[in-house]
Amino acid sequence: MPLPWKQGQVPVMLAPMQGLTNRALRHVYAGSVRPDVLFTEFVRVRPRAKKLVAQSDFTEALAEEANIPLVVQVIGSAEEGVVEATRELVERGVRHINVNMGCPFGRMTSILAGGGMFRSPQTVEPLLRELRSLVPGSLSVKTRLGLDDERQLFDILPAFENAGIDFLVVHSRTVKQKYKGEANHSISHELVARTSLPLIANGDIRTASQATSVLKQTGASGLMLGRGAIADPWLFERIRGNVDECPSVAVRKRELASHLSLLLDGYSEIFCGEAQIMSKLRETFAHFREPELRRWGRKLSKRKLLSGVAEMLAEARG
Ligand SMILES: Cc1cc2nc3c(=O)[nH]c(=O)nc-3n(C[C@H](O)[C@H](O)[C@H](O)COP(=O)(O)O)c2cc1C
Repeated sequence: MPLPWKQGQVPVMLAPMQGLTNRALRHVYAGSVRPDVLFTEFVRVRPRAKKLVAQSDFTEALAEEANIPLVVQVIGSAEEGVVEATRELVERGVRHINVNMGCPFGRMTSILAGGGMFRSPQTVEPLLRELRSLVPGSLSVKTRLGLDDERQLFDILPAFENAGIDFLVVHSRTVKQKYKGEANHSISHELVARTSLPLIANGDIRTASQATSVLKQTGASGLMLGRGAIADPWLFERIRGNVDECPSVAVRKRELASHLSLLLDGYSEIFCGEAQIMSKLRETFAHFREPELRRWGRKLSKRKLLSGVAEMLAEARG
């Protein structure tokens, strides 16, 4: 089986997040908490540009990162050339491809790509069949429960199975919900019962105890962590039972300060200019949740110079 995780393992994956899970951030996670599977930010197909895939996306798209399987996510419609774009990625050595069938934003939902694919469910199977014949490793789909109906995905399960995809990631909200309300994992439980595909549960998992209860509730084959893993990179290790499950805020702040120092170094290598690096870092601070850490994040955000941020991080590391 070409799955990007070992047989018998219950993988905990780092979610694809546009603006966040670039190669510098993935490298820091790979070097510290080692998610079982990594995903790229989505690679957008660009039908009107000279090249379907931007050079910067090719730089991101590899088969693995520090021996951790890397899944490259593509977003686009068949008409826009998502098959050709995938062929180019595979020719450059990409092994694992994931199709974004959940993005609720922008033009994606109007061009039958991302969450917009729910508007034309009949196109899903032929597209995935074509991709299946190209992709040497795993082919997967990351999706939501439906466009605005929480049960729409049930009707599309046969298309995924017939096309021969290897696993399904379900963010258990509808496309229309965007990020409102709470992820409804009880539907994932029903989906697990209805499909032979390994299902990876995603949505609102922020603590080790939530991870345990989502696994128990859904019977999923694995978990995917998004915002929770940005707010607390050690969540992977907490779920594995390797570090304290409920550390104090003081410990969390020290852990985050070390993590952010590494991220700052990584961002300084791949992004240009203080303003761009600062704006990338701010996207991380925005996910802190505890009031004390949120205040600290706001103070970090206000620093105009990276040297000021580095000083605050060194102080917090102690
Ligand atoms: C800033 C941000 C960017 C995202 N970008 C992507 C993306 O490129 N592809 C994708 O499939 N999902 C994307 N998502 C959705 C996440 O992968 C995930 O499904 C969602 O955040 C729910 O999981 P969570 O509650 O663990 O964060 C993004 C989410 C956020 C917050």
